[in-house]
Amino acid sequence: MEEQLNAILSSYEKRRDNLIPILQQVQEEFGYLPEDAMLKVARAIGMPESRVYAVATFYTMFRFTPMGKNRITICRGTACHVRGATRILEEVEQKLGIKEGETSEDLEYTLETAACIGCCALAPCIMINDDVQAKLTPKKVEEFFGKEKKHEVQ
Ligand code: FES
Repeated sequence: MEEQLNAILSSYEKRRDNLIPILQQVQEEFGYLPEDAMLKVARAIGMPESRVYAVATFYTMFRFTPMGKNRITICRGTACHVRGATRILEEVEQKLGIKEGETSEDLEYTLETAACIGCCALAPCIMINDDVQAKLTPKKVEEFFGKEKKHEVQ
């Protein structure tokens, strides 16, 4: 991590107004903002670590835990909501053993929600990585995330 971080920091002037682009690049490199990296960024630009953390947590684009291998996005938009998105979310949470915003311990899955994933007519929808899965039912959730299929999602 040290080497990548040094490369990122060396590509920016060590100024406080570069904090956001530096953090964005750190996240691009590691998939999230590791605590050690934020500390190092803080020292490099001469800003208290608490301030760096406060800025980073203000923006929803920053993550503080690693992403799972598979990113599951449950749509919570109106069309999906009225067609059972809440139940779908609960089912997926139960199958994966994680809550919205969390990553499984084995780093297989990260579970997120979205305001709309753009296929309202096929609600309720979820995305598994880049693939939209439409007209979700608890049975389909079982097919995707049931124990025996758990590691076949690609
Ligand atoms: S509301 Fe779910 S896809 Fe638009």
